[in-house]
Order: sequence, then C-alpha cells, then structure tokens
Amino acid sequence: MPINDVQYDGPDGSADLKKLARHLAWGMERNALFVYLGDGVDLASTSERSAFGAGGFHETTGKRLERAAMEDVKDLYRVLGPTKGNWLGFVQGHHYFEFSDGHTSDTLLAEWLGAPFLGDSALGYVRFKKDDGHTASIKMFLHHGSGGAGVMPANAINKLYHMKVGYPAVQLFLQGHVPQLGVVKIDTLDITDTPEPVIFDASTRFVACGGWSRSMQQCSNHKGRKQGSYAEKAMMRPGVMGGAVIRLKPEREQQGNKSIYQVDVKVTI
Ligand SMILES: [Fe+2]
Repeated sequence: MPINDVQYDGPDGSADLKKLARHLAWGMERNALFVYLGDGVDLASTSERSAFGAGGFHETTGKRLERAAMEDVKDLYRVLGPTKGNWLGFVQGHHYFEFSDGHTSDTLLAEWLGAPFLGDSALGYVRFKKDDGHTASIKMFLHHGSGGAGVMPANAINKLYHMKVGYPAVQLFLQGHVPQLGVVKIDTLDITDTPEPVIFDASTRFVACGGWSRSMQQCSNHKGRKQGSYAEKAMMRPGVMGGAVIRLKPEREQQGNKSIYQVDVKVTI
C-alpha cells in the first residue's frame, strides 16, 4: 500500500490523520507492506527549504524551527508507528524538513519505522517463491512525482507513461504528488526465453496514489474572514482523500497447453 502526501501541518491543519490511521489499520489487518512516496509533513516545501538554507536566522530561531518541525514528525510517527517493520522503502518528495544534523523528516520516519530510505526514486521488485522452487516476480518504479496536476483525469498518468520508455521491464509505476487517485493499465504480451517458450500477459499499471490532506475545507477562514487555502484560491480541483491498494498474488496462468507462474495485479482506488 503506497502512503504519500499526508502533508501533515499540525493538529489543526488540513491532513486527516484519523482517516489515514483507519487506512493503515485496514492494511495491517491484512499484513500489508507499505511504500512511502513523500510529502509526509508539510514543512517545508523546496522553495521554503532554500529560504531556510539561505540563512539570516539567529541560531535560536533555527533551533525553534527544528523543534516545531520535530513535533510534526513525531505526530505523524504516532499514526504510522503501528506499521513498523512492514515497509519496503521510502522515497522523498518536495515537502520535508532538513535538520541541522543531516536528518530529514523522511529519513527519521524511515529509521523509526525500520524502512530503507531510497532517495528520490527507486527501482525494485517483489518476488514470490513457491515450495516447488518456481518463482514469480514483478518490477516496480517509485517516485514522488513532479510537475502540475493539470485538470484532466489522466494527467497524473501521462508522466508515468513516459517513464515506461525509460524502464520498459517495469510493470508497476507508482507516484504521489498530484494528489489524485487513478490507475491506467496498458495491455502487453511478452514471451519467456525458455526452451519451451510461453507467451504471457506482461501488462503495465500506472498508479496515482492519492493523498490525505484536504485542499478545501467547509467554512475555512483565516484572519477572521472566510477564505480558503492556496489550492482553493488558485481554483485547483479538490484533492483526493485516500490511498491506492495494490494486491499482488502469484498465480499459475494457463496459455494453451502451457502454463506460467506469474504475479496477478489488482489495483483498488
Ligand atoms: Fe509534491
């Protein structure tokens, strides 16, 4: 289960940690494995980090900022904590806080949850092994995502579609960032390079993995008058609340009089 774009901005902020906690609990009941696709805490965006990095703050101001950021990271960890040990890896996004000791909000969460921190993008695979020695595996590409969300439903997928050219053997592309939930499947066939070749389904899925922060809130106000977030002001469409669920199941597929052991993929959004 990909987890991304919580964009936690404090106890009275836009992120719905209760909803996220229910989603995680649902996954843990099924012993799910998780991948993190960035933007867990809102503080700070890429441009804000540049501003902090440019300096001009007193040392004590910097320390107070670090304390505030650490509070947010700990709040988010309290929700993610029950999933400890069930993580395949963390890729970072645009929003994360850099502490003076070199840690970031993402590297800390990865450490505390027992997950490998993978940087900006990752290629990996999941392999199933049967008792008789047969294996089935699927390759994945993970990235937080980049660029504007646009307005059309397939926008999130467009960029992933281009990534397929760069990583042709990958069958599962995951990204966050936009924040939208969506899945597009392209049907392709491949053939085994075995003495008895078998043609098999090698379809690819592109998944936009959602998010957990409300871009618009009923009766939102600021400075004592009704007004919305930057997303509402910029007339962006409402962000999704929820995450994709990907089920991988090794199955023996019959192709004519031949069969092949491969991974069946189902994506729920
Ligand atoms: Fe982002």
